[in-house]
Amino acid sequence: MAIFHKYLYNINFLHTDLTTKETKESKYIMYDDLIEHRRLQAQRSVLIEIQSYRSCNDVHKYCSRYGKIKNIFYYSNSRLLRHFAFIEFEHQEHIDKILSISTHINYEQIIPVHSSNLWYRNLNKSINNTIFKESKTQFCKYTCKILQDGDIIKILKDISTISEQILSLYEATKLNDIGVRLRFYTAYQIERSFHGLFPNIAILPFGSTVNGFGKQNCDLDLSLHFEKEKIEKMNSNLVFHTKYFSITDKHRVQNVMEIIAGIMNICIPGIFNIRKILQARVPIIKFDHKLTEIECDLSMTNTSAYYMSELLYMYGEMDWRVRPLIFTIKAWAKNCSLTKDTAGPWITNFSLSLLVLFFFQQLKILPPLDLLQSCANTNDIRLVDSHIDCTFLRDITKIPQYTLETKEESLEKLLLNFFNYYSTFDFETKAISLRKGKPILKPEQCALYICNPLEINLNVSKNVKIEEKHRIQYEMRNAVWTMENQSKLKNLGLINLIFNRKEAVTVKFKESINIKKIFETDNSIV
Ligand code: GTP
Ligand code: MG
Repeated sequence: MAIFHKYLYNINFLHTDLTTKETKESKYIMYDDLIEHRRLQAQRSVLIEIQSYRSCNDVHKYCSRYGKIKNIFYYSNSRLLRHFAFIEFEHQEHIDKILSISTHINYEQIIPVHSSNLWYRNLNKSINNTIFKESKTQFCKYTCKILQDGDIIKILKDISTISEQILSLYEATKLNDIGVRLRFYTAYQIERSFHGLFPNIAILPFGSTVNGFGKQNCDLDLSLHFEKEKIEKMNSNLVFHTKYFSITDKHRVQNVMEIIAGIMNICIPGIFNIRKILQARVPIIKFDHKLTEIECDLSMTNTSAYYMSELLYMYGEMDWRVRPLIFTIKAWAKNCSLTKDTAGPWITNFSLSLLVLFFFQQLKILPPLDLLQSCANTNDIRLVDSHIDCTFLRDITKIPQYTLETKEESLEKLLLNFFNYYSTFDFETKAISLRKGKPILKPEQCALYICNPLEINLNVSKNVKIEEKHRIQYEMRNAVWTMENQSKLKNLGLINLIFNRKEAVTVKFKESINIKKIFETDNSIV
């Protein structure tokens, strides 16, 4: 019988005005509703640089004259020593009002754009030195500090079981509410800058910002779309003159992205270090957002990746153990250098996440994609570029009850079984198919074959070289040994597995030499 556990990912989010689907044990927010909610929130928000935390009262008082404030987040960046008030108003019109009263200075030396990235100057010089105390507004103080290995070890070392350590690692490192808000806000900033030229533009976050597998400092994947006209306008007698463009014409896409990169570089405040990678299979513009300190990858009409994020989001919502396990595997892989920040012949975080989801399918904790597709109704039909079928049941509360089993295995047991399962998996002849929910014969020779769940003829781990595959399985065997020999490693649990990996391997190596010596001595006696 299916039990949808109380979801962990969205629990910290301020989403009281968001419709949720209730089952006996849980609440579920549909992906489209979540994205819409976050986009509207971003449209009602402004980011104001302030001198210090002490300026919160002043800025709150000043902005309250122009609109009703719903939430105010103070956040500081410990590295750059910058301070911000991130303000959400009740209505979008309040933002228009705020922008209409904002000004430019040094007019001769700037491009006078209107953006909701502002800074607050105190003209009457009397600093209100009291801490924030507006009781009717939700106030949240937040220091943007990326946890280092040492910080995480400190958190984990006082926790006695591996299962609890896995949960704590997840809670301590996952992207939080303000992290998601700032990412949607960054997306909307760019969208807004292009509205004059393209009123139908939408810039949608995807990847780990929305699928629930994102860490605090994860990148922001953005997909630029031109939205279709509303149905009511379809019958209009007046039609716009336009120029030719097709998303399948790579040359045109590159031209448009070239222009977009140019405008972003010259006109949009906060955007720096633009790199155009337009020859790639999916052309992207990489850039850094200085105010929010987020690294971004912008692609164009990457709709299948957007639906992929929806699928991953849904799988993460189906069982409470999915996300904590994925976080642990990603942290382990990073510390073994199995994954890297750059692209290359090694496994990616995305492929690792698919391996974890497939493992859950083997335990019948998650359903195969084929089942989700067979239960889909007409509202769930999505066809991308007229050939990529992204149709699957969107409402997880409608999955037939009998198909999911909730084996109440602990996170520790699941982690050990994950390593055991893949350290002996026959990657020589078998491919991973989330569609079927079981291994299939490999369609072509390559070191690691993980079928793209939506574009079934693509292998998402095509880049992985055979040496890397060997290294993955070698590290998994080490991980099994480490988990089974905790008593020889001061019972530090995840700390041994992730952070003291070298020590654990040394102990293992020494032990294997000792065993060999004993064996040789015994032989000599004989
Ligand atoms: P992190 O950025 O590492 O936190 O994870 P991520 O899931 O955001 O991965 P990444 O930024 O590399 O990719 C963003 C999204 O693009 C993924 O979530 C997938 O939906 C999609 N994606 C990434 N790699 C591939 C790939 O090899 N093939 C396909 N089809 N989609 C991919
Ligand atoms: Mg990403």
